Amino acid sequence: MNNKSIVLITAGPTREAIDPVRFISNHSSGKMGYAIAATFLESGYRVILVSGPVNLTLAHPDLTIIPVNSAHEMFTVCQDWFSVVQIAVFAAAVADYRPAEILGYKMKKSDDEFNLRMVKNVDIATEFGKIKREDQIAVGFALETNDEEQNALKKLSKKNFDMIILNSVQDEEATFGFDTNKITLIHRDLSFHKFPLKNKKEVAEDIVHATLAIVNPVI
Ligand code: CTP
Repeated sequence: MNNKSIVLITAGPTREAIDPVRFISNHSSGKMGYAIAATFLESGYRVILVSGPVNLTLAHPDLTIIPVNSAHEMFTVCQDWFSVVQIAVFAAAVADYRPAEILGYKMKKSDDEFNLRMVKNVDIATEFGKIKREDQIAVGFALETNDEEQNALKKLSKKNFDMIILNSVQDEEATFGFDTNKITLIHRDLSFHKFPLKNKKEVAEDIVHATLAIVNPVI
C-alpha cells in the first residue's frame, strides 16, 4: 500500500432482492461517481470505489473497485474504510427501502394484487456523518424535484456533509443516464455556487476542485 491520501466513493444504484430472480432498484448509471473517481485519480489520490451494478469500467493502479449489490453490502464495505479515508463522496443512489424478507424461492403469481412490505435501509452518509473526524471531509448529493435548495440544506446538516451537490432534475439533460449534469454546490457555510449544464467529466472536475479547496484552503 502506498501513502497517498484515500478517497472513498460510493456510486451507482443498489439492488434490493425480492426473491432469487427479482430485485428493486433505480435508474442510476453510476457515471457521475465514476467520473469523480477518475478525476481524484488524476489528482494523485488513491480511490476506493464502492460500486453498485453499472455498465462502466475504470482502471488505474491506485483504484480499487469493490462491487456490491444491496445497500447493506455497500454500508458494510464502507465501514471497513471509514477510518482511513481523508475524503468520502457519497454519489450512490442508495435504495431507501428493501423488502422486509427475501424469499428463498421464485415467487409465484396468484392474486390480482400483491403487497410487498418494505423496511428502511441504513443511511450510509448519515452513519459516516456521525463518526466523521475533524480531519475528514464528506461530500454528498441531493437529487430533488421540488423545494430543491431547502431540501438540500436539510440533507447538508442532517448528514453532516462539508459540501452538498444539488442535482437539478428540472433540466431534462441533467438526470439519470445522461452524459450531462447541472449542479449547484452548497458549502457548510451556506455559500452557493451554481454551474451551467456541463458534461459529467467537467462537472466531476468542478466537484473535485471544490472538495480539494476545502482540504487545502487558500488563506
Ligand atoms: N445516501 C446514503 N445512504 C442512503 C441514502 C442516501 O448514503 N441510504 C446518500 C446519497 O448517496 C446522497 C445523499 O445521501 O449523497 C442524499 O441522498 P438522497 O437519495 O437525495 O436523499 P435521502 O436521504 O434518501 O432522502 P429522500 O429520498 O427522502 O430525498
